Amino acid sequence: MVFKSNLLCKIIGFVHLINNQLYKSKYLTIFKRLGSHSVLALIALIVIGGATRVMEAGLACPDWPLCYGSFLPFNHMNLRVFLEWFHRLDAFLVGILILFKFSLSIIWKNEIPNWLPKTYSILLFLVIVQGSFGALTVINLLDSYTVTGHLLIAFLLLITTISINQNLENNDIEEPLIWWRFLLFFPLLLTLVQSFIGVRLSSTWSAHICLSFNKQCLILNIHKLFAFPIAFSILLITAAAIYKRSLLNENWKYLSALIFLLFSQIALGVLSLKTNLNEPIFIIGHQLNASLFIAILTTLIFRNPFTKKGLNHSLNSQMVGINT
Ligand code: HEM
Repeated sequence: MVFKSNLLCKIIGFVHLINNQLYKSKYLTIFKRLGSHSVLALIALIVIGGATRVMEAGLACPDWPLCYGSFLPFNHMNLRVFLEWFHRLDAFLVGILILFKFSLSIIWKNEIPNWLPKTYSILLFLVIVQGSFGALTVINLLDSYTVTGHLLIAFLLLITTISINQNLENNDIEEPLIWWRFLLFFPLLLTLVQSFIGVRLSSTWSAHICLSFNKQCLILNIHKLFAFPIAFSILLITAAAIYKRSLLNENWKYLSALIFLLFSQIALGVLSLKTNLNEPIFIIGHQLNASLFIAILTTLIFRNPFTKKGLNHSLNSQMVGINT
């Protein structure tokens, strides 16, 4: 009799545990989906922002937050107004998406890890700061530091969103492999510095001035030279992964993407200069490539470097939980 009731308790416990896991994973799946949409929307936003700058459409809407005093400025619509208007619309949608995720995380706070609402609040803060910088770019008539801050915060938003997504994917990493993360963090930092120099270069028109009058070439030269430490750090990471075979086996897709993006970034930079900055496609491509490079690096930093091991570990802990 005692044996039977013990067995019944175990079965009820098991069903409860499975139910609970499914229940929780349902919420996490929603956040993961919303997170992937946010990453796409952010990259699109950065590219449209680049196109807006290249087409010199940054002041095409003279007021803020509306455009020519209207939500849909049909009467003033042309390519430049469309770009600036669409940039704002996408930014608005990204803001709403982040606010939505934050609100859901507050409503479901008992069902999700408690770090989630906190990180969403950071994201919300960043998006508010980003909106303010967007307004300041118009008010300050595209002041170089404001434009630079605007792009760097966009990259920070992208990095935070991807790190949240990856943390949701690997809820229980056994050992996060600190040295690997540290090694990857280095090129990310260098790329952010390089992007800072890059936006200063474009927003002060230094590249144009250097090419036309051979003046103010210092920023352009620093930008070109800075590609070397970035390339070197990526080579170092690849070498480390080749040395630790398991890292290469698990992360080769990301590492190959990183190497490809590095070379195409340099090629797009060279092509932009060779065409005297007259081909918007190369300049916008350079900006898109930079954001993809940052996205892949961030994914590599925060993803579980040994997914199969992580899966085994997760399954093992479930089994241990069930057995006990
Ligand atoms: C390897 C890493 C590199 C990264 C992460 C990077 C990133 C960036 C970023 C974020 C911008 C600002 C884009 C904009 O505001 O439209 C920029 C601008 C620029 N970059 Fe790079 N860049 C890299 C390498 C290079 C190289 C090797 C060259 C040339 C040999 C180059 C040439 C340029 C030029 C000319 C601009 C200014 C474009 C303009 O004035 O519109 N970049 N870069």
